[in-house]
Amino acid sequence: RVFEPTAPTLVGLGAPVGPSSAVVAATEAARHFTGTTVTRRLTAAPVTVDLGGRTVSTWAYDGTVPGPEIRVNAGDRLAVTLVNGLPDPTTVHWHGVALRNDMDGVPGLTMDPVAPGGRVDYAFTVPDPGTYWFHPHVGIQLDMGMQAALIVADPHEPGGYDEEVVMVLDDWTDGWGDSPQVNLDRMRRDGMRGGGMNGMSSGSGMGGSGMGGVSASQPLGADTGDVVYPAHLINGRVPRDPVTVTSVPGHRIRFRLINAGGDTAYRFAVGGHRLTVTHADGFPVVPVEVDTLLLGMGERYDVVVTVADGAFPIVAVPEGKGDPAALAVLRSASGPAPVVGARPVELGGRMLSYADLAPTVSAVLPAHAPDREHDVVLGMADGGRRWLINGATFADHQPLLVAAGERVALTLRNQTMMFHPMHLHGHTFAAATSSGPGVRKDTIIVAPMQTMAIQVQADNPGQWMVHCHNAYHAELGMMDVLSYQ
Ligand code: C2O
Ligand code: CU
Repeated sequence: RVFEPTAPTLVGLGAPVGPSSAVVAATEAARHFTGTTVTRRLTAAPVTVDLGGRTVSTWAYDGTVPGPEIRVNAGDRLAVTLVNGLPDPTTVHWHGVALRNDMDGVPGLTMDPVAPGGRVDYAFTVPDPGTYWFHPHVGIQLDMGMQAALIVADPHEPGGYDEEVVMVLDDWTDGWGDSPQVNLDRMRRDGMRGGGMNGMSSGSGMGGSGMGGVSASQPLGADTGDVVYPAHLINGRVPRDPVTVTSVPGHRIRFRLINAGGDTAYRFAVGGHRLTVTHADGFPVVPVEVDTLLLGMGERYDVVVTVADGAFPIVAVPEGKGDPAALAVLRSASGPAPVVGARPVELGGRMLSYADLAPTVSAVLPAHAPDREHDVVLGMADGGRRWLINGATFADHQPLLVAAGERVALTLRNQTMMFHPMHLHGHTFAAATSSGPGVRKDTIIVAPMQTMAIQVQADNPGQWMVHCHNAYHAELGMMDVLSYQ
């Protein structure tokens, strides 16, 4: 069946205030459509997968972790039939895509969840090129391996690389052992592990607001994690049997990096190589060269690497967790493989900070005085058993009201000692700087006790989640709704 837009039914949302389905349909009709429809079928089901010498039972799309990549051109229509072979209801959310609201995949807000054994048809125009991904928006299912890349190619892009490699980083838990549900139940019961007050190094002198957000001079903390993970994966492999990227010296590889983890920020580096950052959350930036960068949960970066001669470790280090790094291999010559546990010096080199990122001319959000301002205060209660936005968990949330056409300023104030990668659905906001709207993002890390100012152009009517992309913080309350009146 094709689902119809449902009226908001969430506890605490009150009477429906969102736009009518006619408004949503009109917004969709105004989008450029290439005339091409890409049709896919996606089955969510329990599976047994080999993570590289480690065979596990988990939940996945089409039997693989990560799931199958979907690739379209900007302006294409994507038509996906989701078949639910799970014992629980599920949905798919298309992370970062400015799509029609009724296809956003948020149960109770934009659609009914798909019952076990059921199916649903998604169909929407994909407006903007970039690196996106998709995952369920039900509970903590995304932390079980249900995630995959959605690559939106730009036929008009200048290129500037010879090969493309998508890398999905994941902190993986299985469904039957140290399961997401077990983790969640434990957090509900015990709150944060180890007191959780060591999330910020003292004297880390970044400013109190604006673009200072996250950089090498402000680590996210010694123990940012609530959840103990049995494995960290690059493209579904544990370090023992890593994915190998085979290339040729001098080739330029565009890595599309996606942090699909539920609870882990990753510090990424390629031994022997610098990274030229070209895109942040899918949108182009003025290229900047760094040694390493940090990806919060839900963030994406595209980086170009010019391949050196040899075999090199590609590592994703769980930030502040002390867990072993996820590994892949870049090889352009024969010779010994990098050892498991390799720590390339680049990890300690120049690290990307948000302040380094500027949008390209095409990606600039034109400066405009805000028509409306909202504070989004991030809080914690009961020792980490409840996570709050503006003092409330989602069950009691007050929607952030906006009207179509407005420029909206959101001030994300983190009053906790943990970092929160904050994500807005259906829009790509701009980080606010002293010189105007800066880098475009849909997910942005707000470091412990710090503030990030962002601006959103309210051009996509609907009911849109604003939430922490730590799956556990979100599920324990740290979610709100940007609600068009
Ligand atoms: Cu990637 Cu609301 O999600
Ligand atoms: Cu959080």
